[in-house]
Amino acid sequence: ILITAGPTYEAIDPVRYIGNHSSGKMGFAIANAAANLGAHVYLVSGPTNQQIQHARIHKVDVVSAEEMYLAVHARFKEMDVAICAAAVADYKPKITATKKIKKTAEPLEIQLTPTKDILASLGVLKEHQFLVGFALETDNALENAKAKLKKKNLDLIILNSLQDKGAGFATDTNKITIIDQNLNTINFELKSKLAVAEDIMNEIVLRVLK
Ligand code: CTP
Repeated sequence: ILITAGPTYEAIDPVRYIGNHSSGKMGFAIANAAANLGAHVYLVSGPTNQQIQHARIHKVDVVSAEEMYLAVHARFKEMDVAICAAAVADYKPKITATKKIKKTAEPLEIQLTPTKDILASLGVLKEHQFLVGFALETDNALENAKAKLKKKNLDLIILNSLQDKGAGFATDTNKITIIDQNLNTINFELKSKLAVAEDIMNEIVLRVLK
Protein backbone atom coordinates (compact mmCIF):
# COMPACT_ATOMS: atom_id res chain seq x y z
CA ILE A 1 0.00 0.00 0.00
CA LEU A 2 1.33 3.40 -0.97
CA ILE A 3 0.48 6.29 1.35
CA THR A 4 1.42 9.97 1.00
CA ALA A 5 1.40 12.10 4.14
CA GLY A 6 2.25 15.53 5.51
CA PRO A 7 2.74 18.87 3.81
CA THR A 8 5.18 19.79 1.07
CA TYR A 9 7.52 22.77 1.25
CA GLU A 10 8.18 24.79 -1.89
CA ALA A 11 11.41 26.77 -1.68
CA ILE A 12 11.39 30.54 -2.24
CA ASP A 13 15.10 30.89 -1.53
CA PRO A 14 17.61 28.89 0.58
CA VAL A 15 15.91 29.89 3.87
CA ARG A 16 12.21 30.38 3.05
CA TYR A 17 9.42 28.24 1.70
CA ILE A 18 5.69 28.10 1.04
CA GLY A 19 4.05 25.42 3.17
CA ASN A 20 0.82 24.54 4.96
CA HIS A 21 -0.44 23.41 8.37
CA SER A 22 -0.63 19.66 7.68
CA SER A 23 0.79 17.67 10.61
CA GLY A 24 0.99 14.31 8.84
CA LYS A 25 -1.06 12.71 11.64
CA MET A 26 -3.82 11.33 9.41
CA GLY A 27 -1.48 9.76 6.85
CA PHE A 28 0.74 8.25 9.53
CA ALA A 29 -2.30 6.85 11.35
CA ILE A 30 -3.46 5.20 8.12
CA ALA A 31 0.03 3.76 7.58
CA ASN A 32 -0.12 2.22 11.07
CA ALA A 33 -3.64 0.87 10.60
CA ALA A 34 -2.68 -0.69 7.25
CA ALA A 35 0.50 -2.24 8.65
CA ASN A 36 -1.44 -3.62 11.64
CA LEU A 37 -3.75 -5.36 9.16
CA GLY A 38 -0.70 -7.03 7.62
CA ALA A 39 -0.06 -4.72 4.65
CA HIS A 40 3.42 -3.75 3.53
CA VAL A 41 3.37 0.03 3.47
CA TYR A 42 5.43 2.43 1.38
CA LEU A 43 4.97 5.77 3.16
CA VAL A 44 6.08 8.90 1.31
CA SER A 45 6.15 11.77 3.75
CA GLY A 46 6.72 15.50 3.55
CA PRO A 47 8.36 17.32 6.50
CA THR A 48 6.58 16.35 9.77
CA ASN A 49 7.38 15.63 13.43
CA GLN A 50 5.61 12.28 13.29
CA GLN A 51 7.54 9.18 14.33
CA ILE A 52 6.73 5.72 13.05
CA GLN A 53 8.29 2.35 13.83
CA HIS A 54 6.86 -0.73 12.19
CA ALA A 55 8.57 -3.65 10.51
CA ARG A 56 6.16 -3.45 7.56
CA ILE A 57 6.40 0.34 7.02
CA HIS A 58 9.09 1.66 4.71
CA LYS A 59 9.23 5.47 4.98
CA VAL A 60 10.73 7.79 2.40
CA ASP A 61 11.19 11.46 3.32
CA VAL A 62 10.64 14.17 0.74
CA VAL A 63 10.36 17.95 0.89
CA SER A 64 8.74 19.34 -2.26
CA ALA A 65 5.77 18.32 -4.40
CA GLU A 66 8.16 17.39 -7.21
CA GLU A 67 10.15 15.07 -4.91
CA MET A 68 6.92 13.49 -3.67
CA TYR A 69 5.75 12.98 -7.26
CA LEU A 70 9.03 11.22 -8.17
CA ALA A 71 9.04 8.99 -5.04
CA VAL A 72 5.41 7.97 -5.64
CA HIS A 73 5.90 7.21 -9.32
CA ALA A 74 9.04 5.16 -8.63
CA ARG A 75 6.91 2.52 -6.87
CA PHE A 76 3.28 2.96 -7.97
CA LYS A 77 3.25 0.09 -10.49
CA GLU A 78 3.91 -2.54 -7.82
CA MET A 79 1.22 -1.22 -5.42
CA ASP A 80 -2.27 -2.67 -4.85
CA VAL A 81 -3.69 0.38 -3.08
CA ALA A 82 -2.63 4.03 -3.07
CA ILE A 83 -3.93 6.52 -0.50
CA CYS A 84 -2.98 10.15 -1.05
CA ALA A 85 -3.35 11.86 2.34
CA ALA A 86 -0.62 14.47 1.80
CA ALA A 87 -1.47 18.17 1.68
CA VAL A 88 0.57 18.79 -1.44
CA ALA A 89 1.21 22.42 -2.31
CA ASP A 90 -0.84 23.39 -5.36
CA TYR A 91 1.66 26.08 -6.37
CA LYS A 92 5.41 26.63 -6.10
CA PRO A 93 7.56 29.68 -6.78
CA LYS A 94 8.26 29.88 -10.49
CA ILE A 95 11.88 30.64 -9.70
CA THR A 96 13.73 29.57 -6.54
CA ALA A 97 16.36 32.20 -5.71
CA THR A 98 19.79 30.65 -5.21
CA LYS A 99 20.72 33.34 -2.67
CA LYS A 100 18.70 34.71 0.27
CA ILE A 101 16.35 37.45 -0.91
CA LYS A 102 17.23 40.70 0.88
CA LYS A 103 14.59 42.92 2.45
CA THR A 104 13.79 46.24 0.78
CA ALA A 105 11.11 48.88 1.37
CA GLU A 106 9.29 47.74 -1.79
CA PRO A 107 6.50 45.14 -1.88
CA LEU A 108 7.82 41.73 -2.90
CA GLU A 109 6.05 39.75 -5.58
CA ILE A 110 6.63 36.05 -5.98
CA GLN A 111 5.25 34.45 -9.10
CA LEU A 112 3.77 31.00 -8.54
CA THR A 113 3.36 28.14 -10.96
CA PRO A 114 1.19 25.01 -10.45
CA THR A 115 2.79 21.83 -9.09
CA LYS A 116 1.97 18.42 -10.55
CA ASP A 117 -1.20 16.87 -9.12
CA ILE A 118 0.14 13.54 -7.85
CA LEU A 119 -3.25 11.97 -7.17
CA ALA A 120 -4.62 12.94 -10.58
CA SER A 121 -1.52 11.52 -12.27
CA LEU A 122 -2.12 8.16 -10.52
CA GLY A 123 -5.75 8.25 -11.66
CA VAL A 124 -4.51 8.41 -15.26
CA LEU A 125 -1.96 5.60 -14.78
CA LYS A 126 -3.91 3.19 -12.62
CA GLU A 127 -4.58 -0.36 -13.80
CA HIS A 128 -5.34 -2.82 -10.97
CA GLN A 129 -4.70 -0.27 -8.21
CA PHE A 130 -7.42 0.88 -5.80
CA LEU A 131 -6.99 4.65 -5.56
CA VAL A 132 -8.06 6.77 -2.59
CA GLY A 133 -7.89 10.55 -2.27
CA PHE A 134 -8.77 13.16 0.31
CA ALA A 135 -10.74 16.35 -0.09
CA LEU A 136 -10.52 19.24 2.29
CA GLU A 137 -13.33 21.68 1.61
CA THR A 138 -14.74 24.80 3.22
CA ASP A 139 -17.94 25.12 1.20
CA ASN A 140 -20.12 22.96 -1.10
CA ALA A 141 -18.14 20.13 0.49
CA LEU A 142 -20.11 17.13 -0.78
CA GLU A 143 -20.52 18.44 -4.34
CA ASN A 144 -16.84 19.38 -4.61
CA ALA A 145 -15.70 16.03 -3.22
CA LYS A 146 -17.89 14.08 -5.65
CA ALA A 147 -16.55 16.12 -8.55
CA LYS A 148 -12.97 15.46 -7.38
CA LEU A 149 -13.64 11.70 -7.18
CA LYS A 150 -14.75 11.64 -10.83
CA LYS A 151 -12.18 14.11 -12.15
CA LYS A 152 -9.22 12.29 -10.58
CA ASN A 153 -10.59 8.78 -11.41
CA LEU A 154 -10.66 7.62 -7.77
CA ASP A 155 -12.25 4.56 -6.17
CA LEU A 156 -12.92 6.36 -2.87
CA ILE A 157 -12.65 9.89 -1.61
CA ILE A 158 -12.44 10.88 2.05
CA LEU A 159 -14.00 14.25 2.75
CA ASN A 160 -13.11 16.30 5.77
CA SER A 161 -14.78 19.62 6.07
CA LEU A 162 -12.92 22.44 7.80
CA GLN A 163 -16.32 23.59 9.08
CA ASP A 164 -16.51 20.59 11.41
CA LYS A 165 -15.07 21.42 14.82
CA GLY A 166 -12.18 19.09 15.64
CA ALA A 167 -11.67 18.03 12.02
CA GLY A 168 -8.81 18.73 9.67
CA PHE A 169 -5.29 19.97 10.17
CA ALA A 170 -3.12 19.53 13.24
CA THR A 171 -5.93 18.16 15.45
CA ASP A 172 -5.91 14.67 17.02
CA THR A 173 -9.46 14.07 15.87
CA ASN A 174 -11.22 14.01 12.53
CA LYS A 175 -14.75 13.75 11.15
CA ILE A 176 -15.02 12.22 7.72
CA THR A 177 -17.48 11.30 5.03
CA ILE A 178 -16.47 8.53 2.64
CA ILE A 179 -17.80 8.63 -0.92
CA ASP A 180 -17.50 5.68 -3.31
CA GLN A 181 -17.60 5.44 -7.11
CA ASN A 182 -21.40 5.05 -7.10
CA LEU A 183 -21.51 8.31 -5.11
CA ASN A 184 -22.81 6.52 -2.03
CA THR A 185 -21.83 8.45 1.09
CA ILE A 186 -21.03 7.11 4.55
CA ASN A 187 -20.90 9.59 7.42
CA PHE A 188 -18.71 8.93 10.44
CA GLU A 189 -18.71 10.46 13.92
CA LEU A 190 -15.93 12.69 15.25
CA LYS A 191 -13.19 10.28 16.38
CA SER A 192 -9.48 10.11 17.09
CA LYS A 193 -7.39 10.02 13.91
CA LEU A 194 -6.28 6.51 14.89
CA ALA A 195 -9.92 5.32 14.93
CA VAL A 196 -10.65 7.22 11.69
CA ALA A 197 -7.66 5.46 10.08
CA GLU A 198 -9.14 2.08 11.05
CA ASP A 199 -12.52 3.06 9.57
CA ILE A 200 -10.83 4.10 6.32
CA MET A 201 -8.83 0.87 6.10
CA ASN A 202 -11.96 -1.21 6.83
CA GLU A 203 -13.86 0.46 3.98
CA ILE A 204 -10.91 -0.12 1.61
CA VAL A 205 -10.47 -3.78 2.62
CA LEU A 206 -14.22 -4.43 2.16
CA ARG A 207 -14.01 -3.17 -1.43
CA VAL A 208 -10.59 -4.51 -2.44
CA LEU A 209 -11.27 -8.04 -1.19
CA LYS A 210 -14.82 -8.15 -2.59
N1 CTP B 1 -3.13 16.12 -4.26
C1 CTP B 1 -1.99 15.60 -4.86
N2 CTP B 1 -1.13 16.44 -5.52
C2 CTP B 1 -1.36 17.77 -5.60
C3 CTP B 1 -2.52 18.31 -4.97
C4 CTP B 1 -3.39 17.46 -4.31
O1 CTP B 1 -1.76 14.38 -4.79
N3 CTP B 1 -0.50 18.56 -6.24
C5 CTP B 1 -4.09 15.21 -3.60
C6 CTP B 1 -4.14 15.28 -2.09
O2 CTP B 1 -3.23 14.38 -1.50
C7 CTP B 1 -5.58 14.90 -1.81
C8 CTP B 1 -6.34 15.38 -3.03
O3 CTP B 1 -5.35 15.57 -4.04
O4 CTP B 1 -5.73 13.48 -1.75
C9 CTP B 1 -7.18 16.59 -2.88
O5 CTP B 1 -6.47 17.74 -2.62
P1 CTP B 1 -7.25 19.15 -2.48
O6 CTP B 1 -6.25 20.17 -2.14
O7 CTP B 1 -8.47 18.99 -1.62
O8 CTP B 1 -7.79 19.35 -3.92
P2 CTP B 1 -7.21 20.01 -5.19
O9 CTP B 1 -7.36 19.02 -6.29
O10 CTP B 1 -5.83 20.54 -4.95
O11 CTP B 1 -8.25 21.15 -5.49
P3 CTP B 1 -8.58 22.50 -4.68
O12 CTP B 1 -7.36 22.84 -3.84
O13 CTP B 1 -8.88 23.48 -5.75
O14 CTP B 1 -9.80 22.16 -3.84
